Amino acid sequence: MTPTDPVIDIAELCKTLGGRRVLNRLSLQVRRGETLAIIGRSGTGKSVLLKHIVGLMKPDSGRCSVLGVDTATAGDAGIGALRRRVGYLFQSGALLAAMDVLENVALPLRECESGLSEARIRETVRETLALVNLEGVESRMPSELSGGMRKRVGLARAIVRRPELVLYDEPTSGLDPIGTSSIDDLIRSMKSVLNVTQVVVTHDMASARRIGDRIGLIWEGRIYFVGTPAELEATDDPTVRQFVGGLTTGPMTEGIGETQLLRNRPRGDAPAE
Ligand SMILES: Nc1ncnc2c1ncn2[C@@H]1O[C@H](COP(=O)(O)OP(=O)(O)OP(=O)(O)O)[C@@H](O)[C@H]1O
Ligand SMILES: [Mg+2]
Repeated sequence: MTPTDPVIDIAELCKTLGGRRVLNRLSLQVRRGETLAIIGRSGTGKSVLLKHIVGLMKPDSGRCSVLGVDTATAGDAGIGALRRRVGYLFQSGALLAAMDVLENVALPLRECESGLSEARIRETVRETLALVNLEGVESRMPSELSGGMRKRVGLARAIVRRPELVLYDEPTSGLDPIGTSSIDDLIRSMKSVLNVTQVVVTHDMASARRIGDRIGLIWEGRIYFVGTPAELEATDDPTVRQFVGGLTTGPMTEGIGETQLLRNRPRGDAPAE
C-alpha cells in the first residue's frame, strides 16, 4: 500500500444480521491522517460498520480493506495483525471493573507486546494518561472515576499502543456539554500528536462538526452523504436536513416505517444473497 492509498477502502459492503440487511452496498473511503465523523440514527449500523473496520465482523459480500488488509479474506493471523494496528474505543467504554486504571490502560500492551518490562509498561501508561489530561490516577478503580474520566481512560487504552488508525464509538455519550467539548478537543489533538487516521461515531452534531474533517451520514445501510462540515451545512437534501436539524418529520421518519415493514423482505435494489 502506498502513502496515498486510502487507509479504509470499503466498497459495496453488505451485512445481514438478525434477518435484516443492516449494511446495504455501503461504500466509504477514509484518507490517511483524516478524521471522519459518522452520524446517523440509532440502529442504522454505525457500530456494525466499525466492527467491520476492525475485523470483528466479516462482510457477507463486498470489499472491506483496512490498512491494506482485506478483512473479508484475511485469516485469523491477518486479522490479529490488523487489530494490533487499530485502536478501538468501544461504545460501552468497557473498562474492567475489577482492574485499576493502570491495568485497564496496560491491557493492550500486555496482550500484544510480550517483551515489555514492567517499568516500560508503567511509563507508557503514565505518558498516555498525560496525553488525555489524566495524571496520578493509575491506582484508582473505575468505580472511583467520573463518567468523563472513565471515557478518558478508555481513550488512553485505545491509543496506548500508538495505533495508525483509531475508531471511537460514541466517545462523548452521557457527558455534559463541557465534558463533551474537552473529549472532542482531545480527539482533535490526537490527530496532530499521534498523526493518526480516526473514525468517530457520534450522535452529537456539534461534536461531528468540531471533530470531523469530513462527516458521513449513514442511512438505509449506506453512507448516504459524506462531505466537509461546510458541505453538510450547504446541502439542501431533505434527508440530511432532517437529521442535522433534528426534525421529527421528513424522509427519515417515513423511511423508518418503511424499513420496519420491509424488515424480512429482500430489498429491490439488494444483490442476491
Ligand atoms: N450481533 C448482532 N446480531 C444481530 N443483530 C445485530 C447484531 N449487531 C447489531 N445488530 C443489529 O444491527 C442493527 C444496527 O446495529 P448497530 O449497533 O450498528 O446500530 P448503531 O447505529 O450503532 O446504533 P446506536 O446509535 O444505538 O448505537 C440493529 O438493528 C441491531 O439490532
Ligand atoms: Mg452503536
